[in-house]
Amino acid sequence: MKKLLILGASRYQVPLIDAARQLGFYTIAASIPGDYPGFLIADECCFADISKPDEILFQAKKHQIDGITTCGMDTGVRSMGKVCDAMGLAGINEKAAQTATDKALSKERFQKAGVRCAKSFRISSLKDLENALESLTFPVVLKAVDLMGSRGIYRCASEDEARKAFEEIFTESAQDYCLAEEFLDGLLFGAEGMVSGGKLDFLLPYGTEVYHGAFVPTSLGHWAPLEQTECYEEIEQTVLQALDALGIQTSPFNCDLISKDGHVFLIEINPRAGASFLSESVGISYGVNYYELLCRQAMGESVKDFFDLKGNPPCASASHMIISEKTGILKNLKTDVLSDNRIEKLDLFVKAGDLVRAYQNGRDTAGFVIVKGESAQICREHLKEILPKIVLDVE
Ligand SMILES: Nc1ncnc2c1ncn2[C@@H]1O[C@H](COP(=O)(O)OP(=O)(O)O)[C@@H](O)[C@H]1O
Ligand SMILES: [Mg+2]
Repeated sequence: MKKLLILGASRYQVPLIDAARQLGFYTIAASIPGDYPGFLIADECCFADISKPDEILFQAKKHQIDGITTCGMDTGVRSMGKVCDAMGLAGINEKAAQTATDKALSKERFQKAGVRCAKSFRISSLKDLENALESLTFPVVLKAVDLMGSRGIYRCASEDEARKAFEEIFTESAQDYCLAEEFLDGLLFGAEGMVSGGKLDFLLPYGTEVYHGAFVPTSLGHWAPLEQTECYEEIEQTVLQALDALGIQTSPFNCDLISKDGHVFLIEINPRAGASFLSESVGISYGVNYYELLCRQAMGESVKDFFDLKGNPPCASASHMIISEKTGILKNLKTDVLSDNRIEKLDLFVKAGDLVRAYQNGRDTAGFVIVKGESAQICREHLKEILPKIVLDVE
């Protein structure tokens, strides 16, 4: 039996572990010890810190694995790179993994390669910040380079706010530098894809349901396919340029993009499948189990043919976060929609008695729902009916 090492054992990796087992691989779930559901379904548990490449390489060699993968988070990406290089496995290389998981390093590569993105400066002192602000106009974005889920990202309207954000970032980030960049005031969207040997296996741009919070716009949900396909070629070109700039040859990826003044700008590209039901959307679009394809690619198999639609239009989907407007204890969770056959999947992360927080960012997610249908527009209408029927009764 071929062995697949899966980095992470949280609910986000459960479908990945399931898929690997379905394919007949021997699954080893790696994570720091904890009450993680992935440990219950994997063939073997490996207690290790997935953010420590040397620790994971030691385990990978000990278990003589044939492939390594993860999904939905950046934590294990550097370890994957190290293991792929050292053991000659399919996947991202170490150098690309290091660059892609540092927003300053990747920005520098993008700028050198001419990838269209926000004007950006690496800063490590208040003097650097002052210099950067001279070349930028307010609002600006101050950004930690090593966090995810919109943590450590601040939109600042004045020098005073920028100085405060600069101080705040270093309480959250492990690095001693951050970025100051131009705020792109445009339409946020994303793309999910896979590349093998530098060639795209598929590219699925998707629309983003934007939450306009206190700091930067973030995503509450998405729909696919994206209707405005007139910019498809520019999206593809931007993504290929960005992958090339980072040296990513074989990997799944998820990216954030903004369209502004008729052009596509890249915010970031992460070398792993996205979270929040994006893998489910890819699955619906192409009629596949995308988690299986993540496993196949990690095992060195070709995946390109699975995305060949042979003229069939892709199927549409739309997903949305389940959130609370109030902070308090969850008294009751009413879901009158469980038998609604438009729902592809509903995941709830909270139960009666739990503390639920009013939504501010991804950490306050109470669950996700995804529907499928004939068009993205129809799916979004389905969601409008379904979401009010999932009621979080918070006191
Ligand atoms: N320069 C920018 N201009 C406008 N919005 C931005 C900019 N940088 C980030 N954002 C917004 O903040 C979100 C989070 O930033 P991002 O760089 O993707 O970090 P992460 O997703 O790792 O937290 C983006 O999806 C985007 O909505
Ligand atoms: Mg992002």
